[in-house]
Amino acid sequence: MKAVTYRGPGSMKVVEKALPRIEHPDDIVLRVTRTAICGSDLHLFHGLVPDTRVGATFGHEFAGVVEEAGPGVASLQRGDRVVVPFNIACGTCFYCQRGLTGVCDNSNCSCSMGGGAFGYSHTTGGYEGGQAEFVRVPYADIGPFKIPEDMEEEDLLFLSDILPTGYQAAEMAGIKKGETVCVFGAGPVGLMAMQSAWLMGAGRVIAVDRLDYRLDFAKSWAGVETLNYEREGYAHVIGRLREMTEGRGPDACIDAVGCEALGSKWQTLLGKAKLQAGSATALTWAIQAARRGGNVVMIGVYGPPWNMVPMGEAMNKGLTIRGAQCNVKRYLPHLLEHIRAGRLNPKAIISHRFPLENGAEAYRIFDEKRDECIKCVLIPQAA
Ligand SMILES: NC(=O)c1ccc[n+]([C@@H]2O[C@H](COP(=O)([O-])OP(=O)(O)OC[C@H]3O[C@@H](n4cnc5c(N)ncnc54)[C@H](O)[C@@H]3O)[C@@H](O)[C@H]2O)c1
Ligand SMILES: [Zn+2]
Ligand SMILES: [Zn+2]
Repeated sequence: MKAVTYRGPGSMKVVEKALPRIEHPDDIVLRVTRTAICGSDLHLFHGLVPDTRVGATFGHEFAGVVEEAGPGVASLQRGDRVVVPFNIACGTCFYCQRGLTGVCDNSNCSCSMGGGAFGYSHTTGGYEGGQAEFVRVPYADIGPFKIPEDMEEEDLLFLSDILPTGYQAAEMAGIKKGETVCVFGAGPVGLMAMQSAWLMGAGRVIAVDRLDYRLDFAKSWAGVETLNYEREGYAHVIGRLREMTEGRGPDACIDAVGCEALGSKWQTLLGKAKLQAGSATALTWAIQAARRGGNVVMIGVYGPPWNMVPMGEAMNKGLTIRGAQCNVKRYLPHLLEHIRAGRLNPKAIISHRFPLENGAEAYRIFDEKRDECIKCVLIPQAA
């Protein structure tokens, strides 16, 4: 089968690999019909995630058709169409029982990381990813979510990750009716957080990014106000946000950028000098911009080592800071209803579709934000 694999920083290649097989009675093998590239894949692609091995297949956002089900699988059979959460979760451990499928104890035993995830280095378990024609899905009675007959794979593809991630971010932001939410990053995850913030009762939503085409999309698709931090000047971002919010700052700030944020020279230098894990510019801005007593949410990805963020400011302002790898599973039935009712329209953000064979090119376009790229979907030939 064909699979999109890592060759080293900045390099992907589509290669032939052996078909995955049932390794445990609870596995299924899925024939992938749609798979997307995520901002999280870019951290791997840039070589920032430890123990990312050459030859590994990436991809944790996918939907497809069950090709084969192991003898222990009760809820699925060959031919069923499913979308699969990016978390690999056992369903029975201490964390899974509490709905925290993002930190399952059995799918990944690396304590400072979260649970297992598809195609996301050996620090999340070394599982093969879904940017391939087929993928093995463990604990198949737990993660996969059946796609209703009247819906297409693309309608629900983003239930695998970015929609529940943005929704969980808005939920963690603790938005009270009429409050102002600022979302740093107008990529796919930020966009989902913006639409979700309205559902949680936000009165104003402000998007911050440096890419006008993404800000324009956010404005028209999610109906938000926008701020281009590059045009504003890095030193003025916080001042401008305060001006926009009666001098106080937004009630909640969401970091939907993560460890590769641009915009602060010293944060970038600290990252390059390996004194911290990448750049924490967006998180720093979120802390600085939020009003006193406000909420800051980190859904942009950071690695376990420390980052130099202004904790003193966060403490003195009385901020509440929350963050997580999304616990995808628990949001799915609810989000399906929002999509069905047209309150959320995630597939509208797809800007590019490529055959799986063109996976390496798709990575380059998404990474370099060329051709007004927002979200790439790869389509295997057999789909
Ligand atoms: N927590 C989770 O479960 C989860 C799930 C999916 C993705 N993520 C993470 O969410 C983040 C965003 O993912 P994405 O797919 O939207 O990625 P993306 O790369 O498409 O978007 C990131 C956006 O941030 C902008 N940006 C860069 N520096 C900025 C700054 N200082 N201030 C404001 N904007 C800035 C970029 O221009 C870009 O538009 C990534 O870190 C990804 O790993 C987390
Ligand atoms: Zn993702
Ligand atoms: Zn578990």
